Amino acid sequence: MEVKTSLLDNMIGVGDMVLLEPLSEESFINNLKKRFDHSEIYTYIGSVVVSINPYRSLPIYSPEKVEEYRNRNFYELSPHIFALSDEAYRSLRDQDKDQCILITGESGAGKTEASKLVMSYVAAVCGKGAEVNQVKEQLLQSNPVLEAFGNAKTVRNDNSSRFGKYMDIEFDFKGDPLGGVISNYLLEKSRVVKQPRGERNFHIFYQILSGATEDMLNKLKLQRDFSRYNYLSLDSSRVNGVDDAVNFRTVRNAMQIVGFMDHETQSIFEVIAAVLKLGNIEFKPESRVNGLDESKIKDKNEICELTGIDQSVLERAFSFRTLEAKQEKVSTTLNVAQAYYARDALAKNLYSRLFSWLVTRINESIKVIFLYKVMGVLDIYGFEIFEDNSFEQFIINYCNEKLQQIFIELTLKEEQEEYIREDIEWTHIEYFNNAIICDLIENTGILAMLDEECLRPGTVTDDTFLEKLNQVCATHQHFESRMSKCSRFLNDTSLPHSCFRIQHYAGKVMYQVEGFVDKNNDLLYRDLSQAMWKANHSLIKALFPEGNPAKINLKRPPTAGSQFKASVATLMKNLQTKNPNYIRCIKPNDKKAAHIFSDALVCHQVRYLGLLENVRVRRAGYAFRQPYELCLERYKMLCKQTWPHWRGPLFKLEDLRKQRLEDLATLIQKIYRGWKYRTRFLLMKKSQIVIASWYRRYMQKYFLEMKSKMPSLSPIDKNWPARPYLFLDSTHKELKRIFHLWRCKKYRDQFTDQQKLIYEEKLEASELFKDKKALYPASVGQPFHGAYLEISKNPKYKKLKDAVEEKIIIAEVVNKINRANGKVIKCHCLIPKVSFFLFQGSGAAGKGDFLFSSDHLIEMATKLYRTTLSQTKQKLNIEISDEYAIFLSFLKGCVLPCSRLSDGKNCFPGPSQVWL
Ligand SMILES: Nc1ncnc2c1ncn2[C@@H]1O[C@H](COP(=O)(O)OP(=O)(O)OP(=O)(O)O)[C@@H](O)[C@H]1O
Ligand SMILES: [Mg+2]
Repeated sequence: MEVKTSLLDNMIGVGDMVLLEPLSEESFINNLKKRFDHSEIYTYIGSVVVSINPYRSLPIYSPEKVEEYRNRNFYELSPHIFALSDEAYRSLRDQDKDQCILITGESGAGKTEASKLVMSYVAAVCGKGAEVNQVKEQLLQSNPVLEAFGNAKTVRNDNSSRFGKYMDIEFDFKGDPLGGVISNYLLEKSRVVKQPRGERNFHIFYQILSGATEDMLNKLKLQRDFSRYNYLSLDSSRVNGVDDAVNFRTVRNAMQIVGFMDHETQSIFEVIAAVLKLGNIEFKPESRVNGLDESKIKDKNEICELTGIDQSVLERAFSFRTLEAKQEKVSTTLNVAQAYYARDALAKNLYSRLFSWLVTRINESIKVIFLYKVMGVLDIYGFEIFEDNSFEQFIINYCNEKLQQIFIELTLKEEQEEYIREDIEWTHIEYFNNAIICDLIENTGILAMLDEECLRPGTVTDDTFLEKLNQVCATHQHFESRMSKCSRFLNDTSLPHSCFRIQHYAGKVMYQVEGFVDKNNDLLYRDLSQAMWKANHSLIKALFPEGNPAKINLKRPPTAGSQFKASVATLMKNLQTKNPNYIRCIKPNDKKAAHIFSDALVCHQVRYLGLLENVRVRRAGYAFRQPYELCLERYKMLCKQTWPHWRGPLFKLEDLRKQRLEDLATLIQKIYRGWKYRTRFLLMKKSQIVIASWYRRYMQKYFLEMKSKMPSLSPIDKNWPARPYLFLDSTHKELKRIFHLWRCKKYRDQFTDQQKLIYEEKLEASELFKDKKALYPASVGQPFHGAYLEISKNPKYKKLKDAVEEKIIIAEVVNKINRANGKVIKCHCLIPKVSFFLFQGSGAAGKGDFLFSSDHLIEMATKLYRTTLSQTKQKLNIEISDEYAIFLSFLKGCVLPCSRLSDGKNCFPGPSQVWL
């Protein structure tokens, strides 16, 4: 018997924190640590999985492990991300519930790795087959592509996601994947032009330069040396343990699997090369007559050749800026600083638009027409605190606040409120609700102020924005600023004047206000987008549709902040419609190192994630909750005893349901099969009637036609009408046979007894002589008379007649050959019923063997044969041959016939033998 591991068997520490005794922050951290030290990185809080980044590869994701966790109950085996994936997949497949996997944690905690593990587990356990496998591969291989273009090395994580990703995997009713949709959230595009110390640009830049062949680099007009490119940071261009060249091959392969055509891949790399080349454009000032400086591109840059943009068009776009109002068009020159700004804005836009295009292109490959069930996997950029935090960090952290909010809503708030609503005795468990921070950022708060500033006429700077914040948010508990109207922070020297600080759920973050307005506006000078649209490069042209002069839109595009807010709101709505599964990732140390568990760091995360509160609610609450309607919907099929109340254990209900489902399936099968076969039978019956009526119709027609075409009744008439229909072939032959037999019978029925006798004899003759004797065919037409001598009439034969008392069957004159000398003598031959007489002229009968010839030999032999058979009941031994050798024996003085045998010997007739 299979021995199953119980959750409590051989468990290191406590696998489910709900069972932890006593429960305290200390015991919680100790339990995590103990398990972490024994490579147990997963721990449950009820159905929530807490995952600690091991920073080393563990042998716990093998195909054997997948099999181990496949179709097992959640608590049956030790905690694992596969158990959560299995639970989510099975409830999607078996209970038709759309699922979402919410993976949260700060940067470097292991969210992206967790999302890939979930996807690979689901891919391993769901259906197989060529088509399904291709879909799976495309879904899985979208990860390396997006990671190459959207991830980068940061000080917190060597493979940090610099964009938010939500992927809906779509399944059919059997649970086989059909495809998916990826949504991406605001890429940190500022990284394209500048990276903080110790960080890198997006991986793809380094991958191309390291992994492309010389030929490819030549085509892209690139050089392998990173130091040639201003946009690539040099101090940390290599990442430990990462081989960019190998990764480049992986990415190219993945692009191929996802469905990128070769020319598309080439275009994508050309855009990447163009971005690198943009970074190398330098400007010099050139004085103009009006005394202002105008920027000019210093050296010729290969970007124009690469992208097919006219050099003069690009140069002009970097020297002038055209402002268009309704009827006016004003052109101003750009100074060198503005030209650099424009260059960087173009590079950032080019890259981020390429990234969005990539996502759209992948979606095209994996899109599904019919949607049945969905599993969403959310992997966003984690909460982060850097030395210098800007607009990007603000957006990233806002997104994390929203996710924390959804977790609080669903696990802490709603459950407690439900117990109170249901009048269940309940002691409220305190927790920190970060709704207040979300409110500070989105509704009447920072993002709204930022948008207001961006849209306001007049001089708008980052400082005016900060001023505004200082007024509006001054009294907010989570907002801190030196210049706020609230005097609390007047003397806080750790807070520079150009910054504001937010107390996030995960810690305080100080944001440099510089760049907020600009990044929120996200404006690209129209001259630049028009220059890009003029590129002789279909991809670049497609990335800048607004550059088309025919489609000039003077309306201001929505700000980056409001766009992000709207897409996050949509995401939250989407997540709320699905059954959530949580993976809460924790970072054990700040060194990206294995085996180090920093109590303080973990404790901080446990606190802000609200994990302890989570355990408390789980311990005090019910193990299982379900809205009444869903419960009724699920179990109403069982029986009257389960409705409307069931007092037994819940799992029993599930077992009963399973059994009932099988019974119902059998019933449905039975009814279906009955219906199917009955329908088939009725159809066949109907068809049979139709076929039979047509058949009868044709048969009738056939017989009527045959009636008019019947051949003569002569048995030797060979005519027979042609077959009218192929399907009557055998009938037609049979009819011919029957008709022939019938007309033969008819013919025979006309015979008198005398004729019958003659024909019997003729038949006998045929059996004896047909095909044996050459003279036989000539005899067929001659009737057998028998009485050739008319002995009763001729007085000459009176004496003869008297000698033979019996009835004579043949009487004629034959030529007897004398055996002694071969001479021929005429004799009378009479064959009565019982004996055989041969009379010579003298009247004396010869004795012994004799030879004779006759004109009625066939008749004679036949009659002789018949007489002998009827008298003696023995067949006369007749030897038939066309030729005999005649021996005239002078010794004995007789003639003997003999036949020549194959060995050349002669054979002579024996006693009672007739040779003919
Ligand atoms: N389960 C795991 N097993 C082994 N190593 C892991 C695991 N999870 C994470 N790591 C290591 O930690 C690194 C960071 O993980 P990951 O990129 O998933 O973090 P993240 O939470 O997505 O961070 P960010 O928010 O910056 O994107 C990985 O590159 C990998 O080296
Ligand atoms: Mg990540």
